[in-house]
Amino acid sequence: MILKLIIVLLLVIITKSSDGNGETSIETVDEENYTYKAKNIKGDLKIPNEIKRHERSNFYNPAVNLISEIIRTGFESKNLDLFDFLRDKYPPPGGLKTPLPEYDFVIIGAGSAGSVLASRLTENRNISVLLVENGKPEMLLTDIPAMAPYFQSTDYAWQYYMEHQPGVCMGMENERCFWPRGNAVGGTSVINYMIYTRGRPQDWERIAANGNYGWSYNDVIKYYKKSEKANLNGYERSPYRSRDGILPVEFVPKKTKLLDAFLEAGRILGHPTVDYNAPEVMGFGKVQVTISNGRRQSAAKVFLHSQKNRPNLYILPEAKATKILIDPVTKTAYGVEYVHKNVLRTATVRKEVILSAGPIASPQLLMLSGVGPKEHMTSVGINVIKDLPVGRTLYDHICFPGIIFTINETNVSLMESKALNIPDVTEWLRNGDNDISSPGGVEGIGYIKTHVSNDLELVPDIELISIGGSIVSDGGPSGSKAVRRGMRIRDEIFNGAFGSIDNTDTWSAFPMLLQPKSVGYLELKDKNPFSHPRLYGNYLTDPRDVATFVAAIRHIQALANTEPFQRLGAKIYPAKYPACHSLKFDSDEYWECALRTLTATLHHQIATCRMGPESDPLAVVDPELRVHGVKRLRVVDTGIIPMPISAHTNAPGMMIGEKAADMIKNFWNIYINNKVQYS
Ligand SMILES: Cc1cc2nc3c(=O)[nH]c(=O)nc-3n(C[C@H](O)[C@H](O)[C@H](O)COP(=O)(O)OP(=O)(O)OC[C@H]3O[C@@H](n4cnc5c(N)ncnc54)[C@H](O)[C@@H]3O)c2cc1C
Ligand SMILES: *[C@@H]1O[C@H](CO)[C@@H](O)[C@H](O)[C@H]1NC(C)=O
Ligand SMILES: *[C@@H]1O[C@H](CO)[C@@H](O)[C@H](O)[C@H]1NC(C)=O
Ligand SMILES: *[C@@H]1O[C@H](CO)[C@@H](O)[C@H](O)[C@H]1NC(C)=O
Ligand SMILES: *[C@@H]1O[C@H](CO)[C@@H](O)[C@H](O)[C@H]1NC(C)=O
Repeated sequence: MILKLIIVLLLVIITKSSDGNGETSIETVDEENYTYKAKNIKGDLKIPNEIKRHERSNFYNPAVNLISEIIRTGFESKNLDLFDFLRDKYPPPGGLKTPLPEYDFVIIGAGSAGSVLASRLTENRNISVLLVENGKPEMLLTDIPAMAPYFQSTDYAWQYYMEHQPGVCMGMENERCFWPRGNAVGGTSVINYMIYTRGRPQDWERIAANGNYGWSYNDVIKYYKKSEKANLNGYERSPYRSRDGILPVEFVPKKTKLLDAFLEAGRILGHPTVDYNAPEVMGFGKVQVTISNGRRQSAAKVFLHSQKNRPNLYILPEAKATKILIDPVTKTAYGVEYVHKNVLRTATVRKEVILSAGPIASPQLLMLSGVGPKEHMTSVGINVIKDLPVGRTLYDHICFPGIIFTINETNVSLMESKALNIPDVTEWLRNGDNDISSPGGVEGIGYIKTHVSNDLELVPDIELISIGGSIVSDGGPSGSKAVRRGMRIRDEIFNGAFGSIDNTDTWSAFPMLLQPKSVGYLELKDKNPFSHPRLYGNYLTDPRDVATFVAAIRHIQALANTEPFQRLGAKIYPAKYPACHSLKFDSDEYWECALRTLTATLHHQIATCRMGPESDPLAVVDPELRVHGVKRLRVVDTGIIPMPISAHTNAPGMMIGEKAADMIKNFWNIYINNKVQYS
């Protein structure tokens, strides 16, 4: 019975696709009057139009028809949230109905960093914490690794879009790149691809060398290890790994022969097979993930679940912080305004307000509360309490998913059409170890330094992400097309480029630009806390970024030309794009044009609340994450990372939460038994 329900729900999610237009439909709110009405508060799947479209298209089969029925009868009723019975719950402590008016700390955002921080601070039962989170708790379906791409288009993600930038994201809907962020207890770790990376040693050495005391590689490695419960066959004795923490880090149980070919090809070209998170040797390795028993291990699952019953921790989902209260005279933060169930409430703090709302919402909230660039804030009508370069720096990691190789064997790639079926779901429920536990097909990670890099140290400029397939692997008549839709690639662009190999066996490696020279920024649209900020990626505005991509593409071609891939008959697929039709296939100009068409982000926006000493004109927080010039206010999330690192940002976010917890305990002298743990 339960199984049947799960399958039905699975299919419901699969039939759900992008809602395209981006903005969530919330009525404009008068800043002074929060008795607003938020539409669509209930129901994850407010998608009647999409469903109707699927009914017309090739989704018309008996199973999907059944789902359409459920949706017509269930979801169109405004007050019904069918998924609620599968959803995790966070009962308020001590039988409270609403939070108290005062706490020691209020943390805004239960994401990768905020979840860890809340858990660590409340280890001391004398310390009370209110954790305010806009999103809902996780549910059974968010646990399924292979479903990662689907949740980007549901209420579990903030539907942010980058502003239109001519000459990039040309193949995307409205020529705009999609920047989803997690909207859940657990934050972006509930919708991400679960890849575990820490960054190369030089990344942190350089951050520390810029005046950020306490952030050298040796400093941060302690905090990575503090969280970690590694189960990595072959690396049990590594001094860089720990089994004593609670965050599972494992290898994906199943693999395709494409991973073997990737690692072997790497060795042929001089890249040893290593633990890519270990500092000594740069190389290629099997992907390490935050998955255990085939289930996603989000920051909430790992750090908040076990603390649900702490009397001193109030976890409040579906509550949106709208302002940090700051005394304009003393420049001291003293509380938070938030909206919960259409009621505006205030919680004051005895100690600190901590912003962990992520790299987009944290700078937005700072500006809404009077902390930000003076000229910009004045232009949107906000009184400036502290002039700081909030949002003025923004780096992102972009990648190119369009270098695809056909192979001459079948049943090699991970194909969605073969995975998300009933026997597989049953097996997953029982053992957790089949294709469903694949994190979106990612199998291998490789660090390379291309020949165009002029770095004097051995620092990679590209990460290769080896896929057990490619962006064509979830196509076909029954395919969800979730990955291409997650990137918002327009159908006619995708079909024109890859239509003839859709749903066939392929291999691809996404090159990810690790050290972008192009710098973006963000700013407020207006002073309404329900508006999305304006996001400017400024992708590929520095020609060195384009050159690095072209060099990476050549390196991927060299890998494909080695014997292990040639054994599989690997052949590059000559994709055609409208903007590139006059360019010769495989010329450098062709690849630049292709890259500008399929510019995809890996969602690692950082530096919007940049960390740096007071002397750093771009810094927003100091090395202890305190907002410069404002007392009792810190930012603890990935937005503080001051410059690009060679890492996906989930593990760094959790590490930042661990390190911040120690800095805060140290500052307020609230270690249990006054025992200092680190630093
Ligand atoms: C699709 C996708 C795939 C990714 N894949 C990977 C991967 O495989 N590996 C990896 O390492 N990284 C990955 N990342 C990136 C990584 O997950 C994030 O960088 C990281 O989780 C960010 O952590 P954070 O603590 O800074 O913010 P978040 O985890 O985003 O947390 C911020 C929280 O604040 C909440 N919030 C925001 N505004 C408010 C408000 N006003 N009031 C209350 N709450 C608020 C949000 O709802 C959210 O829960 C991926 C990201 C995306 C989007
Ligand atoms: C806020 O809105 C409500 C309902 O729209 C209205 O009755 C009230 O007068 C408003 N208050 C202020 C201060 O604008
Ligand atoms: C591929 O797998 C399918 C079912 O999993 C099977 O029917 C088919 O025969 C296989 N094809 C080859 C060439 O092995
Ligand atoms: C695939 O191509 C390679 C190289 O051309 C060849 O050696 C191999 O036999 C082919 N395999 C199949 C199944 O056709
Ligand atoms: C909590 O506070 C009480 C009273 O001040 C004190 O005796 C106790 O040691 C504190 N506990 C911790 C864990 O700090």
